[in-house]
Amino acid sequence: MSRFWSDVNKRLSPYTPGEQPRNKKYIKLNTNENPYPPSPGVIAAIEKNLNGSLRLYPDPSCEELRTAIAEYYNLKKEQVYAGNGSDELLAFAFLAFFNPGGPRILFPDITYSFYKVYAALLKIDYELVLLDDDFSIHPEMFFKNNGGVIIANPNAPTGKFLPLESVADILEHNSSKVVIIDEAYIDFGGDSAVGLIEKYPNLLVIQTFSKSRALAGLRVGFALGREELIEGLDRIKNSVNSYTLDRLSLAGAIAAIEDDAYFQYVRRKITASRERVSGELREIGFKVIPSMANFIFITHPFIPAAELFLKLKGKGILVRYFKEPGIDNYLRVSIGTDEEMDLFTGALKEIPGI
Ligand SMILES: Cc1ncc(COP(=O)(O)O)c(C=O)c1O
Repeated sequence: MSRFWSDVNKRLSPYTPGEQPRNKKYIKLNTNENPYPPSPGVIAAIEKNLNGSLRLYPDPSCEELRTAIAEYYNLKKEQVYAGNGSDELLAFAFLAFFNPGGPRILFPDITYSFYKVYAALLKIDYELVLLDDDFSIHPEMFFKNNGGVIIANPNAPTGKFLPLESVADILEHNSSKVVIIDEAYIDFGGDSAVGLIEKYPNLLVIQTFSKSRALAGLRVGFALGREELIEGLDRIKNSVNSYTLDRLSLAGAIAAIEDDAYFQYVRRKITASRERVSGELREIGFKVIPSMANFIFITHPFIPAAELFLKLKGKGILVRYFKEPGIDNYLRVSIGTDEEMDLFTGALKEIPGI
């Protein structure tokens, strides 16, 4: 705490990102990165743009990227916003659509922990909606007066998917409020809510290039929704930083969208690895929450998750452990290559008691 900090700053409890080790070489299954490289087309596009044009500002309205994304999802360019990772976009969306001092916004009590951070930063009151014992979301719990809704689908860190009928039900019951569906992990098996945009003007879908398109290092996210919502985001962006995506990110992201064959190949590969590993873990006694994401959420009946976390770390394998009520006996394990996952299950089998 510093006496120079603003009052807002003193009150914050910032998000803690997963560890990015620098010295020791770990098998990294802790931050839901894609274990495969991005499409070769992405690297070529970035290299092509590594030239003197970097002296110029990038296109502030990201026209070309938004057009490519719009074509991909069968939307209009005006229904697409592109920004510097979905984290930034989520923060802009909180600013654009939720009111400090207004009715409380709703989100699940177990979900992406950044939502609480944004709410605290922006002084937006929130109510945590309880999940049931198997981490399912009950749509009826969102049918009440509120200042807006945000749901990660699939949810994080559970990996559970909320069927689209339930998403539609939540949209239907909240027609005067914005409902944000954070689809960071949607490409690993779930159905996107994008198709509901036509029917529901209050729906904002947020996605990212960080997971399924293997571009966490490039920082590109996007939002899809009716024109008025996209314009709302744009107004916030142009009140903070007009150039949130640089020239290299724009070029790389366009190339990623264009290489659909590679995208399909990688996401299928990760989904198949997830199913194989989930089965193997169940065989050795773990409870594995059925996941539609590129990670699994697991618990062991006898060995505490905190202990497993440390033992795995000692064996050079990093997974994510959240010391938070309700999930402090679970580990979140990102899906790596098949070879990495074999090392992971092999390491678990060496732990006495498993
Ligand atoms: C649910 C969820 N939303 C958003 C993000 C942010 O992704 P990015 O800022 O890399 O686009 C993450 C990252 O882990 C996430 O888990």
